[in-house]
Amino acid sequence: MTFRIAPSILSADFARLGEEVRNVLAAGADVVHFDVMDNHYVPNLTIGPMVCEAVRPHAVKDGKPAPIDVHLMVRPVDRIIPDFAKAGADIISFHPEASEHIDRTLGLIRESGCKAGLVFNPATPLHYLDHLMDRLDLILIMSVNPGFGGQTFIPEALAKLKAARARIDAHRAAGGRDIWLEVDGGVKADNIRAIGAAGADTFVAGSAIFGAPDYRAVIDAMRAELGAL
Ligand code: DX5
Ligand code: ZN
Repeated sequence: MTFRIAPSILSADFARLGEEVRNVLAAGADVVHFDVMDNHYVPNLTIGPMVCEAVRPHAVKDGKPAPIDVHLMVRPVDRIIPDFAKAGADIISFHPEASEHIDRTLGLIRESGCKAGLVFNPATPLHYLDHLMDRLDLILIMSVNPGFGGQTFIPEALAKLKAARARIDAHRAAGGRDIWLEVDGGVKADNIRAIGAAGADTFVAGSAIFGAPDYRAVIDAMRAELGAL
């Protein structure tokens, strides 16, 4: 199993964002998680395509571009997708409640040249996956209600991760491609092992990493916990 650490730049110092992105990748992160909030779908307002474009040249790991994982907490969602693709997003995920037509939104993301993900709030059932698995590159299970960094992990997310992992494994066994299983909200070094054991392979962590003085120490601690799996 390949585990990926995806720091959420929501908790970074926005006045030094390029430097923060370079530092966190140099400290061992794999993916840059980019939280987009619109003050409609969620009660907070963050960053958009212009900031994604500005961050893009800084998202480099070992001399190669690191993926920017855009998590859209916006409604409506379709209009802004091509803008993020042009701004250098690699993965774009959205909440099914925010789309008028989920299949069309997934198609728009793929046609824009990006990988497509679907995001499940704590109260959103997984049945949206029933007819969509072959359209997905990523499933994101929220372990907090979206809108803010620094919230506490909701333990019910573990059962949901297990159920999503079973769906992904069944899809692969039936000849489908691999789908990343990402978790977002309240992930820390002291709970990441249980979260990995539940089936996640990609771990968003905002406050746990950017709130610490030494990013490498936190990321190393997370990897050590995952290494015990
Ligand atoms: C919450 C965002 C998360 C958030 C995670 O709506 O989607 O990505 O930044 O922050 P922590 O890791 O602090 O819970
Ligand atoms: Zn997020």
